[in-house]
Amino acid sequence: MIIKTATFVCSNTQVSALPAPTMPEYAFIGRSNVGKSSLINMLVNHHGLAKTSQRPGKTQLINHFLINEAWYIVDLPGYGYAKVSKTSREKWEKFIRAYITKRESLQCVFVLIDSRLTPQQIDIEFCYWLGEKQIPFALLFTKADKQGMNESLKNVAAFKKKLGDFFEEIPTTILTSAEKQTGKEEVLNFIYEVNKD
Ligand code: GTP
Ligand code: MG
Repeated sequence: MIIKTATFVCSNTQVSALPAPTMPEYAFIGRSNVGKSSLINMLVNHHGLAKTSQRPGKTQLINHFLINEAWYIVDLPGYGYAKVSKTSREKWEKFIRAYITKRESLQCVFVLIDSRLTPQQIDIEFCYWLGEKQIPFALLFTKADKQGMNESLKNVAAFKKKLGDFFEEIPTTILTSAEKQTGKEEVLNFIYEVNKD
């Protein structure tokens, strides 16, 4: 799929204030600092569209980006950031869970996982929750440029094995690097195929 246009539409803290659900949308979620905003920028060839930072907790709002005037990418705040207060964490949880379960135009959630790490409980639990709610999702492993391919593939395999305890069918898995543009065509093709249906 060719990306012709990518524009920022709005930032929100309330599900009720989101753009009308008239176009398919794809949400990017995962732990703080896993590389959600960087991956979005890489996919749409637009450095600086989604704001990135070395410090976790950069994305605080739910951001809508309109792609090719036809579908949305949604950048979400990360989970698991230790420095956030309990109250704001609970607020985040409520808001994100409401968004994911109620947003009728949401086609698929991309769960981003750091390819450098062995399976983390917080990511596994989030996937289990998506499964329970029957929300379609795919796994995007990030930062593959940071270590050798074997190391990444080992972590991917271990994560899939954990999911196997819960899911009969393991979701689509794509290894990515925002730095090296790894996985770009695969993710865009995945979106293209879902949009076609
Ligand atoms: P929050 O918005 O805070 O939840 O973070 P995020 O998940 O949006 O992460 P972000 O894209 O801001 O990236 C976090 C840090 O990781 C930044 O310093 C990025 O430059 C770096 N980073 C992201 N993706 C990659 C990658 O593929 N390779 C490398 N080497 N660094 C990356
Ligand atoms: Mg971000």
